[in-house]
Amino acid sequence: MSKDENKLRHLAIIMDGNGRWATKRGLPRSMGHKKGAEVVKEITRAAGELGVEFLTLYAFSTENWKRSEDEVQTLMGLLRDYLKSDLKEVQENNVRIRFIGEREMLDADIVQKMAEIESETLKNTGMTLCIALSYGSRQEIVNAVKKTAALVKEGDISLNDIDVKLFSDMLYTKDMPDPDLVVRTSGEQRISNYLLWQIAYSEFYFTDVLWPDFNKKLLEDIIAEFNKRERRYGKA
Ligand code: IPE
Ligand code: IPE
Ligand code: MG
Repeated sequence: MSKDENKLRHLAIIMDGNGRWATKRGLPRSMGHKKGAEVVKEITRAAGELGVEFLTLYAFSTENWKRSEDEVQTLMGLLRDYLKSDLKEVQENNVRIRFIGEREMLDADIVQKMAEIESETLKNTGMTLCIALSYGSRQEIVNAVKKTAALVKEGDISLNDIDVKLFSDMLYTKDMPDPDLVVRTSGEQRISNYLLWQIAYSEFYFTDVLWPDFNKKLLEDIIAEFNKRERRYGKA
């Protein structure tokens, strides 16, 4: 196995445990989300410094819409702040930003800001920061099936043209390599509807650390552990 084959190009993170972090301290859950948003900035910077090419962060799932209106509003407020101010630094660092998820569910001002940021950073050549927002993998796959079926129906492609590459290109993550490593914080060992198609050969790392306590040192340790792994992709 060449060293290159093992390189961490794409890191995907399930940022979990904000609520428990706050509850443990007798604080409202919203304070955990606030601290979590600060850690997002720190880890984005760190990932770039550590040579990660694609960083995908699970910020809000399609299932998270089922939370209390209060909590959803808190999260959308933090998102607005992030889109308005914090992304400036990201942009100065030559980072390209894209969003994956169901935009129809989000407020119009947020959707507009997202589109602006994507087009403003499109030509940046540094790390790609991909933010999964109102994202659900099953919904993504169903949408991809519909798009593919429509192409067949219109006669643009034939049934035999459908292969792994064509189907991958129908997903939100088109043009992105699959995640090499998926990290989940907070001790939960599940995927929660994240990148189901894309993680076919990803490595996994679960840590008990809650997202607001996550830091660069821990990320370095996780990458060092990942670098020791042997990925076989079915080969002997
Ligand atoms: C992750 O933290 C943030 C989101 C899912 C939006 P949680 O809010 O899930 O925190 P816990 O899991 O309840 O501790
Ligand atoms: C997954 O965390 C989604 C995000 C981190 C945005 P959840 O806290 O929503 O996942 P479950 O409900 O514990 O599976
Ligand atoms: Mg959670």
